[in-house]
Amino acid sequence: MTITTCVFDAYGTLFDVAAAARRAASEPGRETFAKVWVKVATDWRLKQLQYTWLRAIMDAHTDFWEVTQNGLDYALEASDLSDDTDLRERLLALYWELEAYEEVPQMLKDLKTARLQTAILSNGSPDMLSGAVKSAGLKAHFDAVLSVENVGIFKPDPRIYQMVCDRFNCPPAQVLFVSSNGWDAAGATKFGFQTVWVNRAGEPVDRLPWVPENILKTLHSIPDLAKAL
Ligand code: LAC
Repeated sequence: MTITTCVFDAYGTLFDVAAAARRAASEPGRETFAKVWVKVATDWRLKQLQYTWLRAIMDAHTDFWEVTQNGLDYALEASDLSDDTDLRERLLALYWELEAYEEVPQMLKDLKTARLQTAILSNGSPDMLSGAVKSAGLKAHFDAVLSVENVGIFKPDPRIYQMVCDRFNCPPAQVLFVSSNGWDAAGATKFGFQTVWVNRAGEPVDRLPWVPENILKTLHSIPDLAKAL
């Protein structure tokens, strides 16, 4: 079936989640943090995601901003940086203006030229997504920015992927869903979307029954793929 709609995960897929820690590490006075920023960024992301899954399983939803702060607090303590409140505030502020990957603007323009509908489907709260999309100058490229907050549970709950079909009034098979998170691509594949896993780091495929049909290194060829499917 022909693709009509391209839907993107936000954090890690369009926006570089390591950018906040990388940038803070390059600032004057942060020499201690500069030695451990990669570990802090990795722990932060992992804990942030684990807390989304745990809260979904425990039926104890809170918004993504809360789990983002909780994940950072864990990561800072794990690197003996809990006392650096200035660093904490700086990292959280930078999370609202993460850099988009360099190929994102042109890729989105090409999708619109091909008359495809475009959307974000993200765990992010509406405020966080609005901040990130505006600061990266991407607002005009999206037909919709869909946040899980409208349903009140995190991905990969199928009710979240259903939001796309409801918004665009289309069957799952007409949607190309793009995520850098293997577990998210697996959830979307199970739901019935056509899927791309953007595997920038060359990680192994998640051992789940739902394997993404397409695995790419970057987002450059998404428009060509969407047209070809
Ligand atoms: C998101 C997270 C999973 O944007 O990256 O939904």
